[in-house]
Amino acid sequence: RQRSDDDYDMLLKVVLIGDSGVGKTNCLSRFCRGEFQASSKPTIGVEFATKALTIEGDLIKCQIWDTAGQERYRAITNAYYRGAVGALLVYDVTRASSFESIPRWLNELREHASSDMVVMLVGNKTDLVDQRDVSMQQGQELAQREGLLFIETSALDGSNVEQAFSRVAAEIH
Ligand code: GTP
Repeated sequence: RQRSDDDYDMLLKVVLIGDSGVGKTNCLSRFCRGEFQASSKPTIGVEFATKALTIEGDLIKCQIWDTAGQERYRAITNAYYRGAVGALLVYDVTRASSFESIPRWLNELREHASSDMVVMLVGNKTDLVDQRDVSMQQGQELAQREGLLFIETSALDGSNVEQAFSRVAAEIH
């Protein structure tokens, strides 16, 4: 059957959070547009993009929201989380400090987001093999402890990016 832009079975709002520079904007652009930018500027405020996914025969429109990791550029938090049913909580596998920030982001989620939100911990930049600073096991253990889904991705080479979003969408669906 023919489908128009507004003809979908479900609209899912998913937010991206994590420290500045971990690759949130590039995960979004890789997933929604198939693009990567080697030199991307910090996000100021909020942007969002959409992408359609088919899950068990249903057409799901994913609306992905991206905001600044830097505190001074962050948009009003309540508005950002409003209506969100999923979150990708991103750190950089080459930067331990971004992994150590995860508990702080979880606190923000607990404060502002719905308690039944599906949250996936995402270790990004796996392509930088020689610079790895956080092991996959560390990521897995934290995810297990906190009851989160877990995946490692590379926005640069594209590995697992689509899977990250579609796992969250499937979990909600
Ligand atoms: P803020 O907007 O400040 O919160 O940052 P961000 O989390 O959106 O990070 P962004 O996507 O802007 O990426 C920061 C830098 O990391 C850029 O130079 C990207 O090119 C680079 N980058 C992002 N993802 C990857 C990746 O998977 N691999 C590699 N090698 N570099 C990446």
